[in-house]
Amino acid sequence: MTIHIGAKPGEIAETVLMPGDPLRAKWAAETFLEDARCVNEVRGMLGFTGTWRGHRVTIHGSGMGMPSLSIYANELIRDYGAQTLIRIGSCGAMQRHVRVRNLILAMTASSVSTPSTGIFRELNFAPCADWGLLRAAVEAAEARGLSPHVGGIYSADVFYDERPDLNEMMTRHGILGVEMEAAELYNLAARHNVRALAVLTVSDHLLTHEALPAEDRERSFGDMVEIALAAAFPGEV
Ligand code: HPA
Repeated sequence: MTIHIGAKPGEIAETVLMPGDPLRAKWAAETFLEDARCVNEVRGMLGFTGTWRGHRVTIHGSGMGMPSLSIYANELIRDYGAQTLIRIGSCGAMQRHVRVRNLILAMTASSVSTPSTGIFRELNFAPCADWGLLRAAVEAAEARGLSPHVGGIYSADVFYDERPDLNEMMTRHGILGVEMEAAELYNLAARHNVRALAVLTVSDHLLTHEALPAEDRERSFGDMVEIALAAAFPGEV
């Protein structure tokens, strides 16, 4: 047990999928894993461990925003030995050619600040995805007939943003979308020499103001779970 995770030693798999929403973690575990068992419910943050095609997998919520994700990812890596962490979540599109429902695989994650900023101080560290996971996710997406956008995203500190100029700057610099967790996940993966990737579906568009209808959210979420699992275990594609 850690401060925020009630799982016993050995109850967390080396491969962890991290949706923001704990109820999405439950749905994904019940839908895609065999013998899924709840291993954490501290503060209502749910984690489940089961198997996918014989491989042990944990699906654990991250909560919203980098401070929340940082707590869970730190404990999963440092206390439970997680080696591969894949965020599955939504983002807002920041380019016209990126459409609602599209898939984004985050090669890098820019930010104004992250929970690691205090460590980096004057350094502009460039958080990036694990190349092997990224490549395998592209292949898994293409095998499903999807054409993912691959590039930089922006991990923001606030959802209700009062600095439209920053979003414009990101758009001008080719950033594909905005979410709130990936940069810290990539920082932690680098620090602890483990693998990380963020697989994102565009749920809303900052330029056109379109939004993904509720009934499409479950399907896109299911696609992301499948792509994340196939990327983690590429021999199974
Ligand atoms: N901003 C930040 N995070 C998000 C957004 C957004 O527009 N959409 C989905 N996650």
